[in-house]
Amino acid sequence: MNSDSDLQIAGDILEVPHLLQAPRQHPVTVAEFAGLARSIAADRSQWEHLVEYDATTRWYHRLRTGPGYEVWLLSWVPGQGSGLHDHGRSSGVLTVLGGELTERTERSARVLRAGAQRVFAPGYVHEVVNDALEPAISLHVYYPGLTEMTMHAVSCAARGSERGSATAGV
Ligand SMILES: [Fe+2]
Repeated sequence: MNSDSDLQIAGDILEVPHLLQAPRQHPVTVAEFAGLARSIAADRSQWEHLVEYDATTRWYHRLRTGPGYEVWLLSWVPGQGSGLHDHGRSSGVLTVLGGELTERTERSARVLRAGAQRVFAPGYVHEVVNDALEPAISLHVYYPGLTEMTMHAVSCAARGSERGSATAGV
């Protein structure tokens, strides 16, 4: 009987490590960046002791860097928000670690609770706000690292914009 493949592996595949793909040390794909964020979110010992809340400005801390990417930890007290912005040429993964955040775009608004993730492409425009009564914490992975953040006028998000340098991404 013919088979589509004449290659079969008999025995324990783990005994032939040269056939296995070595795990990557750093993420490369969107799924791997999302996975990195989920793994950090699940291990509170990596970030919980670093979180601070600042009523005067959104607090942020660069948690990790890797080849071409950065991971930021942010806190949001009730009422704090990012303003409408894009992320220049960076793509990103936003993960809510605690509390809840509201993401608004020109077309929609969605509440993101702990564990929620949003992946966005370069040029994506949104606003993130803590509309809740409790503080919130979020994790942001940017690839490449965020070097510019363009703020957009709320009433004219697609046209009116003002260039600004990125000091704390969202
Ligand atoms: Fe953002």
